Amino acid sequence: MEGNKRLSGPWLLLAALAMAMVHHVSATDHIVGANRGWNPGVNYTDWVNSQTFVLLDWISFRYQRDQHNVIQVNQSGYDNCTMDNAIGNWSSGKDFFFLNESKRYYYIDGKGGCYGGMKITFFVNKPAPAPDHLVAVNATAKSGGSGPGCELRPVGFTVSALLMLAGALFSF
Ligand SMILES: *[C@@H]1O[C@H](CO)[C@@H](O)[C@H](O)[C@H]1NC(C)=O
Ligand SMILES: *[C@@H]1O[C@H](CO)[C@@H](O)[C@H](O)[C@H]1NC(C)=O
Ligand SMILES: *[C@@H]1O[C@H](CO)[C@@H](O)[C@H](O)[C@H]1NC(C)=O
Ligand SMILES: *[C@@H]1O[C@H](CO)[C@@H](O)[C@H](O)[C@H]1NC(C)=O
Ligand SMILES: *[C@@H]1O[C@H](CO)[C@@H](O)[C@H](O)[C@H]1NC(C)=O
Ligand SMILES: *[C@@H]1O[C@H](CO)[C@@H](O)[C@H](O)[C@H]1NC(C)=O
Repeated sequence: MEGNKRLSGPWLLLAALAMAMVHHVSATDHIVGANRGWNPGVNYTDWVNSQTFVLLDWISFRYQRDQHNVIQVNQSGYDNCTMDNAIGNWSSGKDFFFLNESKRYYYIDGKGGCYGGMKITFFVNKPAPAPDHLVAVNATAKSGGSGPGCELRPVGFTVSALLMLAGALFSF
């Protein structure tokens, strides 16, 4: 398709920006354990299952820093509560992580809590795979038509972003 050949450099950036605006009107901060925080005696499997992690969300740990910390590890570290292959190591008592990669993350407590269940693992999903350029075409052609999976929100900002994207793809 001729349009795709033109999708380079600045237009890719514009497309990424428009997608970000459509799908991430507000990023979620997932507070580990909710009001129970990062502590022993919390079922973190249940907590993880109550969340939907999406790319560009945040996760944050709240805890007593003299008692716990947060170590990011890989699967071996998670399964075995070991830190020799730690990816990172935080201990402020209130640590925020930007989930900027679509992958599985693993965090454990490095002060013994891991053995009692202070460990979490979750997968960060890409945004819903809506074909944004098609949605943009439909939005342009039908002025407001919303197809399946279309996340058009009633926000002028988003609509104009989509129209800009459609222009970038098809007007040149
Ligand atoms: C967490 O709760 C689930 C049921 O919701 C249970 O299957 C699981 O064993 C619990 N995990 C721990 C570590 O207690
Ligand atoms: C975790 O990291 C260690 C050290 O880098 C490596 O030996 C091990 O294979 C890794 N485990 C997984 C599951 O990636
Ligand atoms: C747990 O640790 C043992 C020994 O360090 C290692 O052989 C094993 O692969 C680890 N388990 C996982 C699931 O990575
Ligand atoms: C974490 O950092 C502290 C202080 O910087 C260090 O003493 C400790 O060994 C580190 N732990 C891991 C698992 O990297
Ligand atoms: C995500 O953030 C980490 C830490 O800031 C950084 O090392 C990594 O390169 C980033 N990944 C991407 C895909 O931007
Ligand atoms: C675009 O509109 C056509 C016909 O109006 C419809 O069949 C199609 O599903 C729409 N596509 C999207 C992505 O909304």
